[in-house]
Amino acid sequence: MTLERLVIRNAGQLVTLAGSSDAPKTGAGMSELGIIEGGGVAAEGGIIVAVGTDEEVERILRDRWGDPPWNATVLDAKRRVVMPGLVDPHTHLVFAGSREYELEMRLNGATYMEILQAGGGILSTTQATRAATEEELHQESTTRLDQFLLHGVTTVEAKSGYGLTTVEELKQLRVARWLNETHPVDVVSTFMGAHAIPSEYKTDPDGYVDLVVKEMIPRVAEEGLAEFCDVFCEAGVFSVEQSERILRTGAEYGLASKIHADEIEPLGGAELAARLGAVSADHLLKASDAGIRAMAEAGVVAVLLPGTAFFLMAPFARARDIIEAGVPVALSTDRNPGSSPTESMPIIMNLACLNMNMTPAEVITASTINAAHAIGRGRAIGSLEVGKQADLLIMDAPNVPYLQYHFGVNPVDVVVKKGKVAAA
Ligand code: NIG
Ligand code: FE
Repeated sequence: MTLERLVIRNAGQLVTLAGSSDAPKTGAGMSELGIIEGGGVAAEGGIIVAVGTDEEVERILRDRWGDPPWNATVLDAKRRVVMPGLVDPHTHLVFAGSREYELEMRLNGATYMEILQAGGGILSTTQATRAATEEELHQESTTRLDQFLLHGVTTVEAKSGYGLTTVEELKQLRVARWLNETHPVDVVSTFMGAHAIPSEYKTDPDGYVDLVVKEMIPRVAEEGLAEFCDVFCEAGVFSVEQSERILRTGAEYGLASKIHADEIEPLGGAELAARLGAVSADHLLKASDAGIRAMAEAGVVAVLLPGTAFFLMAPFARARDIIEAGVPVALSTDRNPGSSPTESMPIIMNLACLNMNMTPAEVITASTINAAHAIGRGRAIGSLEVGKQADLLIMDAPNVPYLQYHFGVNPVDVVVKKGKVAAA
C-alpha cells in the first residue's frame, strides 16, 4: 500500500515557525516566524517530509519519490500564506444547549458571577448536559468541531466540567474520546470536575472537593480519560487552597496541571500555577505583576482568551506586560456556552491584535507552536518541520499582517489534516 502523498507549492509566505519544538517561544522570539518566501511543503502518510523553497522541496522529493509524476495531491498556494493548522488549547467543547438569554441578562446589568451564584451559568449547562445522552452530546459537539475545522483549527483541547458528578464527568470525557476517534480534528482531554460547586454541595463545598480528589480523579486516571486536570480558581468557586489540593492530587495521578486563574478577581492563581509547575495558566485578566514574574520563571504558558473578555465586556488581559516579562503566550477561543460562544480562532486572533496589542506575528506564534506547547504537543504539531504531523492551512491572504487587517470573514481557504485535505 502506498502512503498518501501531498505537495503544496508556490506559497507567497510559508510560515514554518521552525525551531521551537522543545520549548515555547518567548519575548522577541514570538515574532520569529521562520518565513520562507516562495516556499513549499510535502507530506507522506500524514507526516511532513520536506519543507523549503519550491526548488528545495522538488529536489528532496525527486530523491525520495523519483522523477514526477509522483501520484501526489498537488496544491498551488497561489502566492498566499501557508501556515501550520491552528491549535486551540482551551475549550469546553462537550456540553448541551446554549445560554443566549444570559447575554440579555448581562446587558441588563447582571454579572456573570451573579448568574452562576443564582444557579444559572455553568450550573444551567450542567443540567442540560446531565440530561443529554452520549449520542446527543457527540452530535452537538461534532457540529462545533466542524466549525473549528472550517476556521482552521486542527487540534483542540476539551475540558469536562458540566457533569459535576463522577458518572457525568466520565460521560463527558468519554464523549471527548469518541469525538477524537470520529472527527478529523484531534481532541485532547482535560478533567475539570472542579468547574463549579454543584447545587447538591452548595452548603458543603469541601465535601465536593473531597469527591473530586478521592473519587473522580482516581477514576479518570484509571480509565485513561484525560491528560490534564484543570480548576476554576476564583472567588466564590474554588479557593487557592482547594485548587492546590485538587491539582496536586491530579499530578499524583499523572494529570498535568492547568488552571483558570485570576479571571474575575486577583486571587493568586498565576502564583499557584508557578508554584505547581503547571503547563498553563489561563485567562489571567487580573493576574498580578508578581504572579506574571513567577510564571515566567517557572515556564508556565499563559493561555489568553480575549473572546471571553470581549463577550463578558471585561478589560482584556495585559498581553504586552506578560510577553515582556518573558512568559510564553498562547491564544484560545475558550469555546463554551456562557462566556465565549465562538469556534472562530481567526476572530480571537483579531481581538488579540486589536485589543491586546499583540503584533500579527506574535498572534500567529500564540495560535500555533505556543498553543501546541500549552497542551504538551510541541514536538508533534504547531510548526512546519520534517517529522511533524502535516496539519496546515492555505490562507486567503498574501502575507501575515493581512490576516489581522481583513477582519470579520473566514480567512481559511484550505485545511490539510494529517496530510489530507479536510476542508476547502
Ligand atoms: O473559561 N470561567 C469558567 N469557565 C468557563 C465558562 C464556562 C461557562 O460559562 O459555561 C470559562 O470562561
Ligand atoms: Fe474556560
